[in-house]
Amino acid sequence: MSHRFIARTEEDTITLAENLESAKFPNMVICLYGDLSSGKTLFVKGFAHALEVHDDVTSPTFNIIKEYVGQLPLFHMEVYRCGDDIECLGLEEYFTKKGVVIIEWADLIEERLPKERLDIHIQVLDNDARIFMLKPHGEKHEEAVEAAI
Ligand SMILES: Nc1ncnc2c1ncn2[C@@H]1O[C@H](COP(=O)(O)OP(=O)(O)OP(=O)(O)O)[C@@H](O)[C@H]1O
Ligand SMILES: [Mg+2]
Repeated sequence: MSHRFIARTEEDTITLAENLESAKFPNMVICLYGDLSSGKTLFVKGFAHALEVHDDVTSPTFNIIKEYVGQLPLFHMEVYRCGDDIECLGLEEYFTKKGVVIIEWADLIEERLPKERLDIHIQVLDNDARIFMLKPHGEKHEEAVEAAI
């Protein structure tokens, strides 16, 4: 089942990310889908805040993956430039490292995503308003969404 959430401001986006309480769910995998500047990275910032990550979260564009230390490790991936090149091999290892994985542009590696995950589609409504469609797969991700919405 999908859940819809409307964010009217940037703060609403941050609050949604915080309410998912990822610290309680090691091995959570969150897949973000949405156009350029729809708010994927801002959403990751909300996660980082909830996990008490103190470093500033920036787009991992050229690194593909950035790792942050918090209550759980946060692995932030941006797979926009992922072809079959060497850096993108082994991404799957991170799904079981007992951290939280967030993947921007997850549609580009669809066949490599784990079955149990939370898909989030972000649509821009207007300047600051966004529609989030959350589709959890598996019990753990369903529980996280139900507690947050
Ligand atoms: N409700 C909102 N949620 C998210 N971002 C918002 C919202 N309102 C305005 N914004 C603005 O939209 C922009 C979103 O940028 P962000 O880098 O998060 O997008 P992105 O989807 O990661 O882009 P990219 O595809 O380049 O990685 C920011 O400038 C942010 O301030
Ligand atoms: Mg981004």
